[in-house]
Amino acid sequence: MNNIESPFVFGRKVTGESFTDRETETQRLLNNFNNRINTILISPRRWGKSSLVKKAGNMAENEGLTVLFIDAFSLRDPSEFYATLATGVLKATSGKIELWIDMVKRFLSRLTPKFSFGADPLNSFELSFELDEIEKGYREILDLPEKIADEKNIRIVICIDEFQNTALFQDSLLFHKRLRSAWQEHQQVTYCLYGSRQHMMAALFEKQSMPFYRFGENIFLEKIQMNDWIAFIRERFSATGKNITDEMASKIASTVDCHSYYVQQLSHLVWQRTYHTADDTIYNHACLDLLSQNEILYLRETELLSETQLHFLKAVAAGITENYNSKKVMSEYKMGTSANISKIKKALQEKEIIELSNNKIDFVDPVYKLWFKRKILKMDL
Ligand SMILES: Nc1ncnc2c1ncn2[C@@H]1O[C@H](COP(=O)(O)OP(=O)(O)OP(=O)(O)O)[C@@H](O)[C@H]1O
Ligand SMILES: [Mg+2]
Repeated sequence: MNNIESPFVFGRKVTGESFTDRETETQRLLNNFNNRINTILISPRRWGKSSLVKKAGNMAENEGLTVLFIDAFSLRDPSEFYATLATGVLKATSGKIELWIDMVKRFLSRLTPKFSFGADPLNSFELSFELDEIEKGYREILDLPEKIADEKNIRIVICIDEFQNTALFQDSLLFHKRLRSAWQEHQQVTYCLYGSRQHMMAALFEKQSMPFYRFGENIFLEKIQMNDWIAFIRERFSATGKNITDEMASKIASTVDCHSYYVQQLSHLVWQRTYHTADDTIYNHACLDLLSQNEILYLRETELLSETQLHFLKAVAAGITENYNSKKVMSEYKMGTSANISKIKKALQEKEIIELSNNKIDFVDPVYKLWFKRKILKMDL
C-alpha cells in the first residue's frame, strides 16, 4: 500500500517517539537511582518494564551516573551470572584493557578469571570463572562495582532484567542470600531488579522468608492510560500523514485492554491497512489480523492445558469472574470438586494465564481472551 515505515513498534524495547507517557514512573525510577534506593519493578508480560528502565537508566547516565544493564534471561547458573556481572562492571567503568587487568588483579585477588577477547577487544571481551573458584571468590565479584565506584568516585546503577530467571538456578536460595548480603552493604551502587513472571517476582520479593524481602522499593507498573494511548495513536498516525479519530483510537486501546504491546500491534495493523483515514472496515480486518498473527502462541498455550483447566478458562472467558464453587458453575463447566478448583486456579496463576485482582479472576492476556472466546467458545466478537 505504501512504503513508509510503520510508526508503531512492538516486540522490542521502545525509545524516543515510540515511547509514550510513563512520566511519573520514569521520574520515580530516576529519583531512586539518584537517591541510591534499590527498586524492584514488577508487571505482567509486555507492559513496558524493559523500555521504562532503559529510559530512566539513560536519563541517569546523562546526569552523570554510570548505568549497567544486565539481562538474566539467558543465564543458566550463578557462575554465568558472576561472569556477566564482572564483565559488565569492567566494561561500564573503563574503556581500557590495561585498566581492566589492573582492576581484576587488585579487586579479584582470590580469583584467576579467564579473559577472552574477540576481534574488537573493547566490545567483545568476556571474563569467565571456574566453578570452584566462585565458591572462594563470589564476594569479591559482588563487591567489584562498589570497590570501583569508591576508587573512581562514581555512582553505579545496576539494572537486572528478567531477574526472576535466577530463581531457577540450582541452590537459588543460597545464591540470593549471597547477593542480598553483599548488596545491602553497598553505598555507591544501586540495584534495579525487574522481571516479567509476576508470580515468581512476587514470590522473591514479597515473602518475608525470602532473602530479598524488603530489599528496596517494590513498584507495580500500571498500564498506560486510555487518554495517553489515544493521543499517542493519533500523533503517530498524523506523523505519517494518515488520520484516525479519537473514537477509533480509543476502540483500539480498549479492544486490547490498554496492554502496551497489543496497543502498538493493533495500531500497526490498522495503520497498515489505512490509506487516508482509518474506518470500521479497516478496524475489523485489523482485529482479525491481530488474532491470526498471534494464533500459534495461543494454540500452543491451549494445548498445554489440562481438561479441567480448559473448562475453568471457558467459565472465565464466558464472563464468570467469581463463585466458581457454586454447584451451578461447577457442574456446567465440569470442574469436579471445589478442592479441584483451587488447584486449577493455582496452576493457571502460576502459568500466568489468569490473574486475580480485586477478588475477580480474569485472563492476563487480553488478546488470548478474545481469541479464546472466538475459537473455543465460538462467540462472535
Ligand atoms: N512507554 C511505552 N510507550 C509505548 N509503547 C510501549 C511503552 N512501553 C512498552 N510499549 C510497548 O510494549 C512492548 C513491550 O515493551 P517492553 O519490552 O518494554 O515490556 P516488558 O514489560 O519488558 O516485556 P517482557 O515482559 O516481554 O519483558 C513494546 O515493544 C512496545 O510495543
Ligand atoms: Mg522486558
